[in-house]
Amino acid sequence: MRNIPFNVPPYYGNEGQYVLQAIASHKICGDGQFTEKCTSWISERFDCQKTLLTCSGTAALEMAALLCEINPDDEVIMPSYTFSSTANAFVLAGAKLVFCDIRPDTMNIDETLIETAITERTKVICVVHYAGVVCEMDTIMEIAKKHQLYVVEDAAQAMMSKYKGRAAAAIGDFGCFSFHETKNYSMGEGGALLIRREINNEKAEIMREKGTNRSQFRRGEIDKYSWVDWGSSYLPSELNAAYLWSQLEAADEININRRRSYYRYQELLTPLAADGLIRLPFVPKECEHNSHIFYIRTRTHNEQTELLKLFKAKSIGAVFHYVPLHSSKAGQRFGRFHGVDRYTTNESDKLIRLPMYYALSEDDILRVVEVVFQFFSERS
Ligand SMILES: Cc1ncc(COP(=O)(O)O)c(C=O)c1O
Repeated sequence: MRNIPFNVPPYYGNEGQYVLQAIASHKICGDGQFTEKCTSWISERFDCQKTLLTCSGTAALEMAALLCEINPDDEVIMPSYTFSSTANAFVLAGAKLVFCDIRPDTMNIDETLIETAITERTKVICVVHYAGVVCEMDTIMEIAKKHQLYVVEDAAQAMMSKYKGRAAAAIGDFGCFSFHETKNYSMGEGGALLIRREINNEKAEIMREKGTNRSQFRRGEIDKYSWVDWGSSYLPSELNAAYLWSQLEAADEININRRRSYYRYQELLTPLAADGLIRLPFVPKECEHNSHIFYIRTRTHNEQTELLKLFKAKSIGAVFHYVPLHSSKAGQRFGRFHGVDRYTTNESDKLIRLPMYYALSEDDILRVVEVVFQFFSERS
């Protein structure tokens, strides 16, 4: 039986040519012509005054956390239903984590609970746009303004998504994209940090370039560069940026292609949802999603386990998602759950992500859907 993988890294066609071009230009370290092309494209497309390409989404989150200037014991509010990188970035910066429950409809942080989680130590609200569906940002930005908090958007999954016409990652103080091979647009490993306010630009550039002012030197603003502050190495190589550029040039086409697969799944699975056997993703009317993940939710955890077994037996790469952070060893050490875990564990225990990638074929979608139908017909 032919395997249907969960993910195939996006490949549009010009990646190889651009990588060779970078090699031929004798500029393969960071911040060359392809990095410039990618960052200009992102800034223009998403109306953001500054974009810095990073070596991962994790690195972008770490930079954002450091730019929030966290003091020991400062608290960061975030969902527990997320990847370890969201939490790690703030733990490394010295913060304590306060996990908030999610909304059962979108799996995003429940914005109505955030204000009750704020203490005198709260410094940051970090939101995660799960599956490329943006959180309820107007409410979140209003709370942040009232309590003078930073907002970091973990938009690792949300490039090309929008909320009320505004781009994900360009709404909060800092926004973080991931270009890992599992994302809609990829450079193998990579990411981007979007900075809303100019006042943070210089510090971010220095932090990214080993604590030096090399970025200013590169632009011809100073004669020599030197060590001016603490920092690390957060910039990716030109080889990776060249790979990404091929996909940014075709960003809309890739988006349309994924959208086609997403709505095909939705159309074919609607009868099962109408019978109450599964739930399909919900997208609030304010949001334009990027078809990053197509997930279904079963009625019980047992059904999730059994359906995953059937997918495996049929060589189909359908998978569960996050184990809630507050239930993990590190989550218990570095954070606490605020209030009641009404939905985080319950909903994650029922969620299954179906294969989804650029150029997923109609035949494969039909085969995946057939397995879901077979599962429920055998149970009725
Ligand atoms: C929500 C979220 N945040 C952060 C990351 C980390 O991104 P990267 O793998 O590029 O470091 C991921 C990656 O899967 C993610 O899904």
